Amino acid sequence: MAAMNAIRNIVILTGAGISAESGIDTFRSEGGLWEQHRVEDVATPEAFARDPDLVLRFYDMRRESIQTKLPNPAHEALARLDRQWTGGLLIVTQNVDDLHERAGARRVLHMHGEHLNAWCTACDTRSRWTGPLIDRPECPACRSRALRPDVVWFGEMPYRMDEIYRALREADLFVSIGTSGAVYPAAGLVQGARELGIATLELNLEPSQGSHWFQETRLGRASAIVPEWIDEMLNP
Ligand code: APR
Repeated sequence: MAAMNAIRNIVILTGAGISAESGIDTFRSEGGLWEQHRVEDVATPEAFARDPDLVLRFYDMRRESIQTKLPNPAHEALARLDRQWTGGLLIVTQNVDDLHERAGARRVLHMHGEHLNAWCTACDTRSRWTGPLIDRPECPACRSRALRPDVVWFGEMPYRMDEIYRALREADLFVSIGTSGAVYPAAGLVQGARELGIATLELNLEPSQGSHWFQETRLGRASAIVPEWIDEMLNP
């Protein structure tokens, strides 16, 4: 990519593909089923209203499962970038796992929420939560039994979009890693980057749906191509 050494501020968008090699399933694999469920049966507010036990059990299983997974070399390389990059950096992740943080990254924004948070719909407090929600535990703040997964479902508004757009306006480079480009508004960030005239790079296993928007695409497994790119950034 041209003029990498002119780059100061970076926005990176990550998706399920960066955690795939840690053993966490991506969403849009063959068959379109996500852990044997249709997405609309478990990941919408309507599903939660219709069958809260199904949804809570599903997310309890996911919450338990991610705690057994480990960051892979792609997460570790991004954490290294975070430690060593003296310019601006924001890692915007669509992932609800905590593998960026467990690898040591700090400048991380979870636009789709976090598995390890519970959100109280009575008092609007978010609490760190590692155990199950199926037995309707009390909110640590208000004692109501109204906790739900702090995960942004289809039809709900992603978090902190204003901060994301602000970082993009100040960025010189936008990089997308391991995302299919199927879900907006995340999938639209590359178009925003192009309108702002900043450099764009895609790192993914296969061309994403928005691939044509990127100035450069590198294909391969995240655990290989992310560390390679970060070496280039840190040793221009
Ligand atoms: N390395 C790099 N990329 C990979 C790898 C890998 N090892 N394995 C898979 N991929 C790519 C796939 O080719 C695909 O393009 O990662 C992408 C994963 O796409 P999705 O499963 O659609 O995941 P994502 O883009 O994160 O989904 C976006 O959809 O269901 C919602 O809220 C959920 O945040 C999620 C959003």
